[in-house]
Amino acid sequence: MNQQMLRETAKQLVANNKGLLAMDESNPTCYKRFADLGIPQTLEARRAYRELIVTTPGLADCISGAILYDETIHQKTIDGTPFLKIIMDAGIIPGIKVDTGAKPLAGSPGEKVTEGLDGLRDRLAEYSKLGLRFAKWRAVIAVGAGMPGKACLEANAHALARYAALCQEAGLVPIVEPEVLMQGDHTLERCRDVSEETLRTVFEQLYTQGVVLEGMILKPSMVLPGSVCQQQYSINEVADATVLCLLRAVPAAVPGIAFLSGGQSAEFASARLNAMNIRFKGRMPWQLAFSFARAIQQPAMEIWRGEGANIVRAQEALLYRARCNSAARRGEYNSDHVI
Ligand code: 13P
Repeated sequence: MNQQMLRETAKQLVANNKGLLAMDESNPTCYKRFADLGIPQTLEARRAYRELIVTTPGLADCISGAILYDETIHQKTIDGTPFLKIIMDAGIIPGIKVDTGAKPLAGSPGEKVTEGLDGLRDRLAEYSKLGLRFAKWRAVIAVGAGMPGKACLEANAHALARYAALCQEAGLVPIVEPEVLMQGDHTLERCRDVSEETLRTVFEQLYTQGVVLEGMILKPSMVLPGSVCQQQYSINEVADATVLCLLRAVPAAVPGIAFLSGGQSAEFASARLNAMNIRFKGRMPWQLAFSFARAIQQPAMEIWRGEGANIVRAQEALLYRARCNSAARRGEYNSDHVI
């Protein structure tokens, strides 16, 4: 393991107020989002959409790394240039989702465990040869009556840690993503408690498996009330609950924390990240960044709708959200004006 290289890559991914663009939706997820907008659910539509993203001019000014899907790393633009070449030439670090999805956890109704460890060493070796420099694995933790249970937390933390150790062995920086789901009527306080327990369980397993904390990135969910919670919370309350939870549970050796958006609106995701970076400026040991999919892509996808004539406007919308989030890292996001 080349620890120095891992540290450098991890640092680069969260440097200069940039963040990650997640464009690693599995085919079923991508199709679901296409179907909601009446976009054809075809291989060519997926290719065209990802071409739109990777060819957006200026993206590298605010995006440090792109998380790709296995299909995408082998695809090309309509004029035959590999997506990977376009990304690397732009100075964006390419990464890859390597889990194979969350499956029902036996004995724990309603809970899931993420799979994908079988054969992972060989896949990582292939990805490394192709020039990919980091990977991602997402675990999902549901909140509800009796959930999450110990079995779910421990199984997912164990898998995340084994994945992370394999990544580092292959020279890829692991993005460790334990997502506490927003679905439910739970309060902000309950999400904070579940998030803290989740993170403590994950870091215990990372320690047990010998993962070098300096060579990884944590990708957590923000601490949020459930999607149908009756109580409303301000942007500042969310920001405080999130950072205070992270300060308790995430070791200072981790170079960066890059949030997923998890179904929040693009505006909320930026505003909350902005509030965290303002309110805790100079008091956080790690860089606080973003690794959004929907909160960067959704407005662009809604404009595109599968039509070639909409590509330029969709790219402008994509770049705009990427710039908003870079501004949020500086504590300079303002939803009222164009940045
Ligand atoms: P969202 O930002 O849409 O939650 O996606 C991030 C991600 O990578 C999910 O694994």
